[in-house]
Amino acid sequence: MILLQATDLCHSYSTGDQQVPVLSGLNLTLHRGEVVMLLGPSGSGKSSLLNLLAGIERPQQGSVKIQGEELLSLSESARTRFRRRHIGVIYQFFNLIPTLTVAENLLLPLSLNGRRAEKGRAEAFLHRLGMKDKATRFPDQLSGGEQQRVAICRAMIHQPMLLLADEPTGSLDADTAAGVMELLLQQVRAEGSTLLMVTHSEALTRHADRVLTMRRGRLEETG
Ligand SMILES: Nc1ncnc2c1ncn2[C@@H]1O[C@H](COP(=O)(O)OP(=O)(O)OP(=O)(O)O)[C@@H](O)[C@H]1O
Ligand SMILES: [Mg+2]
Repeated sequence: MILLQATDLCHSYSTGDQQVPVLSGLNLTLHRGEVVMLLGPSGSGKSSLLNLLAGIERPQQGSVKIQGEELLSLSESARTRFRRRHIGVIYQFFNLIPTLTVAENLLLPLSLNGRRAEKGRAEAFLHRLGMKDKATRFPDQLSGGEQQRVAICRAMIHQPMLLLADEPTGSLDADTAAGVMELLLQQVRAEGSTLLMVTHSEALTRHADRVLTMRRGRLEETG
């Protein structure tokens, strides 16, 4: 069953008087429950693609359909609502809100969706990620690995159908990264989420159902 279909995406950035193409007619299909990893050289457009799929940016051309909904025909505010409801994003540098505690950071995506009465879910999630005793801490009182576990919780707390992760272990040491990755994949499989994850680590791709490589603005399936 198809969850996401991106067709003929074209996107470029202007630097001074020049247009630098980043995506040139890119196509992508994601099926429900798939774990897909995305490789490609630095600057090849991986983060740009994730931003387009999340509806954070608009492509200059092409179509992004998620669960049959054409993202590009939505207004900016409708796209934001769609993202809050259906998409979870994990970044390399955690992006937790420094003035909120762990528990408050987690409850934010729920309250943004008008789902207040789900404290239990946040607690259960923290427990599963081995973070139960850290609920009242602030992000700067946590290690990098712990912060990323909270960020994973936050991205998944509202049970999004699509999870986008941009080098989620890119700023962690190898041991911490391995632990965080294991937890992420466990949760993704347990929830039946669909994960598209950017990584520079060929080693991590053994966890993927499919591996794609960004080349010259398009995706190639890797064997
Ligand atoms: N807002 C922007 N304005 C201008 N150019 C941009 C902008 N964002 C990205 N670019 C350019 O687009 C290209 C693709 O960038 P992108 O961040 O998508 O690459 P990436 O594959 O994620 O790289 P990395 O592996 O280093 O994270 C780069 O050449 C970058 O300089
Ligand atoms: Mg990037």
